[in-house]
Amino acid sequence: MKDLLIVGNWKENKTLAEAKIFINDFAGNYMPRLGVTVVVCPAYLQVPEVSAILSTNNISAVNIGVQDLSEFEGGAHTGEVSPRQVAEFAKYSIIGHSERRAAGQTDEDVSRKVDLAFKNNIVPIVCVVNENVPIPKTTKIVAYEPIEAIGTGRPDNPVNANEIARQIRIKNPNVETVLYGGSVTSGNVKSFTDQEFISGVLVGTASLEAREFSSIIKNA
Ligand code: PGA
Repeated sequence: MKDLLIVGNWKENKTLAEAKIFINDFAGNYMPRLGVTVVVCPAYLQVPEVSAILSTNNISAVNIGVQDLSEFEGGAHTGEVSPRQVAEFAKYSIIGHSERRAAGQTDEDVSRKVDLAFKNNIVPIVCVVNENVPIPKTTKIVAYEPIEAIGTGRPDNPVNANEIARQIRIKNPNVETVLYGGSVTSGNVKSFTDQEFISGVLVGTASLEAREFSSIIKNA
């Protein structure tokens, strides 16, 4: 059995009260699995509290991530949160999600963010929409997320996703882990994780519901 990484991206969803309900429910359903690493990425504002509640619910095995990282080291950048500040609470960061790229993030920005992540002991998860998107050389974890599959209920064909994952690995020899993302559910997750070159999933919509997210972890 290969190791798997399962990442939930809550995007701009959940108030703190809703996050607390999720964790309560999740604590009752989640079964840790050997070799399966789980990461939850709440909104920035909720990261410390969600992290604290996970620990007090005895599910500290679930890691915390953020959904993007500042491209600045720190200092006079109003509205930003520095990677050093992030590192106090989160272990992972999604970088270059297509929704951030659509809002103006460039390949150069992604590259700077990845450098800052490593410098601050944050594990970057770099999102790409296909095998041709440049991936910073130091990147070890990549999420392949075709735009047309994100939030549409129309996932990629697992065999095609595997082929893209294979090409990503060939083009980027430093990459160790390729995740698939886009309309992943508890019903289809295994068809992706069964593929040779896919080592986990990045989940949006289906990560918002505690039971469904626990089933994804169970079925992967
Ligand atoms: P989705 O989102 O699971 O809702 O398709 C995936 C993502 O954007 O990471």
